[in-house]
Amino acid sequence: MRKELFGLADRLAREHRLELDEYRALIDGRAPEITAYLADLAVQARKRIYGNTVYIRGLIEIGNVCKNDCLYCGIRRGNTSCERYRLSHEEILACCREGYTLGFRTFVLQGGEDPFWTDDRLCLLLRAIKQEHPDVAVTLSLGERSRESYARLKEAGADRYLLRHETADATHYAKLHPKELSFDNRMRCLTDLKSLGYQVGCGFMVGSPYQTSSMLARDLQFVEQFAPDMCGIGPFIPQSDTPFRHEPAGSAELTCYLLSILRLIRPNFLLPATTALGTIHPGGREMGILSGANVVMPNLSPASVRAKYALYDNKLSDGSESAQCKDELTQRMRSIGYEVVTDRGDVKPIP
Ligand code: 5AD
Repeated sequence: MRKELFGLADRLAREHRLELDEYRALIDGRAPEITAYLADLAVQARKRIYGNTVYIRGLIEIGNVCKNDCLYCGIRRGNTSCERYRLSHEEILACCREGYTLGFRTFVLQGGEDPFWTDDRLCLLLRAIKQEHPDVAVTLSLGERSRESYARLKEAGADRYLLRHETADATHYAKLHPKELSFDNRMRCLTDLKSLGYQVGCGFMVGSPYQTSSMLARDLQFVEQFAPDMCGIGPFIPQSDTPFRHEPAGSAELTCYLLSILRLIRPNFLLPATTALGTIHPGGREMGILSGANVVMPNLSPASVRAKYALYDNKLSDGSESAQCKDELTQRMRSIGYEVVTDRGDVKPIP
């Protein structure tokens, strides 16, 4: 069995694909030696393409108003303890200005699904950002919208779109979301985004309630088949005002193990060491990079609203998580042998 797992890891590094039951065998067989082996292969793969560089993104949480009621999420509509905010057009531009000065060349505008953000308002905002900073990439992470809406936003200057698929198992999807949200529409959004020419990111939580290793295997196979440019994964962390408040959190170790496997599936894609990973473990961001991740996304939102974007309990937003503390992040990355770069940070071709 042990030998078989090392064989699977070698084949994954060569062929970038496995069968569903092979992904499951890798997940179920997680142990210290195979973990180190996969991380080593993953780091070699990312170094061949990205060397020791780490891309940074300035994350701007534009608002926590959300019309959805996802069972895991702290900014769900039903959470009456959540103090809502919405950044203004001018406030967002000010964040971008500050971020640009700090050396960020990608801004990620993330927020709940808030009907206030019509296509007209977003297009105005995108044009303003692109006019002021023609050399930046703008990533949107604003949930499910129509194909027409995605098309207009692309036209107005959006380059990338992050929409986690959350789970590739439709039955599991239904257990994490209210009935108004459908797995099929999620998939429709991802397919539309890709066909419109966005660089697209999917992703999932690790250790979410009801998740099994077969479901995680399906997530890996989904990434293999959908072939995204980015994939955001992080441990599930319970939020005290949600129905999942008493559910156990996912682990940093399993998240990092999956990061290594994901790197081998898509050697040149953009794989962040997420805030959730940094929150669940003090060295989470570094562990992520050392497992094959190549992106970190410090927070550029105004300090006054940061605590309000509480997707889960104890979410980090200062120190290396804060864009203003880029030097600290740079030092932490240097201490493990990596260099933060000032760059749009697009996907590089496989040499
Ligand atoms: N724990 C971890 N991740 C969460 N997200 C939302 N709620 C939680 C939670 N409790 C993730 C979802 C979403 C992204 C913005 O944050 O995957 O897509």
